[in-house]
Amino acid sequence: MTIDTVEAKGGKPVAAEETLRRFATAAQAAYAADPGPGGVEKIRALLEPVLRDKAVVARYLGPDNDETRTPIYEDPQFGFVVLAHVYKGVAKAPPHDHGPTWAIYGQATGVTEMTEWKLEKAPAGNEPGRASPVKTYRLEPGMAVAYQAGQLHSPKRNGDTRLIRIEGADLMKVKRKAFKPA
Ligand SMILES: [Fe+2]
Repeated sequence: MTIDTVEAKGGKPVAAEETLRRFATAAQAAYAADPGPGGVEKIRALLEPVLRDKAVVARYLGPDNDETRTPIYEDPQFGFVVLAHVYKGVAKAPPHDHGPTWAIYGQATGVTEMTEWKLEKAPAGNEPGRASPVKTYRLEPGMAVAYQAGQLHSPKRNGDTRLIRIEGADLMKVKRKAFKPA
C-alpha cells in the first residue's frame, strides 16, 4: 500500500489536507487488516513520506502553529489520534509507556534523541516502576519509530523540534504510570 505523494504522481502538488486524508485512509485500512503490532508498523511506514512532505509541514507545523499538541485527525473507527507537535527549546522526558496503547513518533524537523528502556520493576501503588536504558538513537527528519504497548522510551531534545505523533488512543483520557531509572 502506498500513498499518492507529490513525488509518486510526478504531477501537481497535492494539498496538505488531501495528503493527510489519504494517509488517514491508508492507515485505517492497514489497522483494519492487522490491529496488532504489524498494523502499527505499517502505519509507521506510511507516516515517513508524510513527514517529508513540505506542504504538510507548512500547513500543520508551520510558523503559524506554535502549539505543543494539536490533534489533526482522530480515527472514527479505531480511535487512533494524529497529533502535530511544535516543541521549543531543550527538554528531556522520563521513561514512560503509553498505558494500554501504542505510539508512533514521526520527526519532521530537528532531532529527537530517543532512549529505549527495559522494565526492571513494575510500578506498584504510588511507587514508580524502575527501568534501565537499553539503547539510544537519533530520530532525524523523515524518520518514524513505533512503540508498541508497554515499550518504555524517553525522548530528549537539544533544541526546537516538530513532530507528527500518532497515539493508539487519546492519551489525554488515559491514566499513565510513572517510571524511574533503576
Ligand atoms: Fe512517548
